[in-house]
Amino acid sequence: MSKEKILFFCTECGAETPKWSGQCTSCGAWNTIVEAPKERKIKQPGVSSIRTRGEAGPVSLREITAREEARLTTGMEELDRVLGGGVVDGSLVLASGDPGIGKSTLLLQMARNIAGRGEKVLYVSGEESLSQIKLRAMRIGECADNLLFMAETDMNEIREQALAIRPKVMIVDSVQTMFLPEFESAPGSVAQVRENTAFLMRFAKTENIAVFLVGHVTKDGSVAGPKMLEHMVDTVLYFEGDSTTTYRILRAVKNRFGSTNEIGVFEMGAAGLAEVLNPSEHMLRGMPEAEAGSVVAVTMEGTRPILVEVQALISQTNFNLPRRTAAGTDFNRVNLLLAVLEKRVGASLSGCDAYVNVAGGLRVTEPALDLPILLAVLSGYRNRPLPEHTVAFGEVGLTGELRAVSQALSRVREAAKLGYRTIVLAAADCEKIRDDVPKGVRLIGLRNIREIPKDFSFDQTR
Ligand code: TYD
Ligand code: MG
Repeated sequence: MSKEKILFFCTECGAETPKWSGQCTSCGAWNTIVEAPKERKIKQPGVSSIRTRGEAGPVSLREITAREEARLTTGMEELDRVLGGGVVDGSLVLASGDPGIGKSTLLLQMARNIAGRGEKVLYVSGEESLSQIKLRAMRIGECADNLLFMAETDMNEIREQALAIRPKVMIVDSVQTMFLPEFESAPGSVAQVRENTAFLMRFAKTENIAVFLVGHVTKDGSVAGPKMLEHMVDTVLYFEGDSTTTYRILRAVKNRFGSTNEIGVFEMGAAGLAEVLNPSEHMLRGMPEAEAGSVVAVTMEGTRPILVEVQALISQTNFNLPRRTAAGTDFNRVNLLLAVLEKRVGASLSGCDAYVNVAGGLRVTEPALDLPILLAVLSGYRNRPLPEHTVAFGEVGLTGELRAVSQALSRVREAAKLGYRTIVLAAADCEKIRDDVPKGVRLIGLRNIREIPKDFSFDQTR
């Protein structure tokens, strides 16, 4: 007789341990270790591997017939880009985000677009009744008849139905509501969430049906239940946004079929999510004109240049230790830049509070934001605005030197497209792209931050 193994789980991070303890040794959470329920494992016939039907035994690379990776467009440019060019057949995509952010809406819109082109799509909801889904769908618009809906939580039943219908794409909303009756634990438990995901992965691969799985996140931002969920799927999408604004940003944190640098920007409206094809305009909306402490920066999100506003408020401190905050960017980097300014330009910032903010809800941590942050702080400190229609980008080193950044030319082009005429950047970048800049755009190449004129009149610099 085999000895029965008792396992314990952390309900926060999903770590397994052989014995109970008050604190999880993996994530440090208290009172989250629970005994794993005894599970009767029943092997599902035909769903026990990720082999596509008909394949057997090990083979050499030459013998494998590489199917051309078929990409199905979602009808939304922003979503296609984040997925790496569309939906890949037989892939499992986890769409996660806070409750109410718009995951169901996004996937419903995608389903509607795909069905509208004649492909079969199955939308399975374990959260809403069919009539609730209808109400939502009515806000979005007419749906073609080959988009089928099902309210179901039993995974075996879902599989049966899907095999009968054979859709091109299946959406399962959400992983936390689904259950496999072979496992005794409740839906949403670590064991269920893990087994459901593994089940869907096998299903997607064997049947070559693309599956989108919705997963809610916990308050600390990780996908609820085991973090290991992310290792199991092909692609993990995060849908994020401020509950106070209507803008939503979609990013891929993992993608076996594309880059993880791309973002998609959407706006939630009365008729669902609308794509924001020009995010720079939205990031700069409402920006003050000719104010001290406000600088426009060009940052890259994947292959896409986006203009953002960097703000700095510098005021006399009332504390022994000056207050520093950084919203939307790296706090330590801001502190470092303040130190560089103090040492290399002689700005006495140690007696000042400094509040730095990247407006628009985007979080930017790339080094090209150094120069804009530094200029915003300097402008706020001197209480003098930068000349109109000026943007900046560039990395700043510890001696105050300016360093080249990636994709300087695309950054300059995006700035020019939005009407900016003066671009402050590293001299090295300036020389590299000088011959290709759009007409009417003036480049100000700096070698060191000491070259920044006192009154910001860059005209005299070069
Ligand atoms: P939903 O897709 O249900 O979020 P999730 O599945 O991530 O939990 O989105 C719900 C929110 O979106 C809800 O607060 C209402 C809002 N909404 C709109 O503003 N317009 C719309 O057309 C739709 C369908 C939803
Ligand atoms: Mg939902």
